[in-house]
Amino acid sequence: MENIKNKWLEQHLNTIVLGDSYELIKNIPDNTIDCIYTDIPYLFESYGKCNNECGIRFHRLMNESIDVISNGINYKILDEFIRVMKKINIFIWCSKSQILDIMNYFTNKGCRYEILVWCKTNPVPLANNSWLSDIEYCLYFREKNVRVNDGIKLKSKFYISQINKADKELYKHPTIKPIKQVEQHLKHVLKSGEIVLDPFCGSGTTCEAAKINGFDFIGIENNTKWHKIAVGRINGITADGQTSIFTDFEELGK
Ligand SMILES: C[S@@+](CC[C@H](N)C(=O)[O-])C[C@H]1O[C@@H](n2cnc3c(N)ncnc32)[C@H](O)[C@@H]1O
Repeated sequence: MENIKNKWLEQHLNTIVLGDSYELIKNIPDNTIDCIYTDIPYLFESYGKCNNECGIRFHRLMNESIDVISNGINYKILDEFIRVMKKINIFIWCSKSQILDIMNYFTNKGCRYEILVWCKTNPVPLANNSWLSDIEYCLYFREKNVRVNDGIKLKSKFYISQINKADKELYKHPTIKPIKQVEQHLKHVLKSGEIVLDPFCGSGTTCEAAKINGFDFIGIENNTKWHKIAVGRINGITADGQTSIFTDFEELGK
């Protein structure tokens, strides 16, 4: 059984797999992944009328089993995350309303944590009784004996940029994360040849960041549109079929 599972890992290393991560993660053997880097499905609070893709997914989950699912993700998958990692070493981008649940889960396991942020300099202006949505949160947890790499540039807890219109135009994903920040995070915790898993990989930002920096990766995405875009992306092709590999928008000043 273990051999078959290892075969699955070997076959899918450095690829993006189309399917449901709640099922596919069962193929990954215990203690084989060096880091999980992921951006989980968000909760949309307008339960009744939300008809974007994430909202629909939330409704589907709600219908499956309300007692094990909360806040846009079935938290049972966190047990699987811990099973597949050699040591707990995990980044989770999440919405503000998911922070408490996730913090409780990992701090109860004795993990150290950091709250990393992406600060956006040009957020959508919001009116009424609200704060600006100019910060996104990425929670990081590690077991006490997990070492991080040195290098002052890698240690920063914040990253400041405009909302990344350029990446969104290239890869279309509504919640795409800035690849420079993802690269910085991965370089802080991984060594060459180590494996990062992204079970909710969207347009493939984590996988591209891993590939650029010589880390092995496995991505999982259940939506055929994003899966196709992500596979194109790690092969240097944009969502419109253009070659992307040498385009560095930061250097071009966009
Ligand atoms: C927040 S987005 C990730 C965006 C990504 N960080 C990027 O930069 O493009 C979460 C992704 O998880 C996918 N997803 C949701 N449920 C899933 C499941 N059960 N298995 C695999 N992927 C899933 C969604 O289709 C969505 O693309």
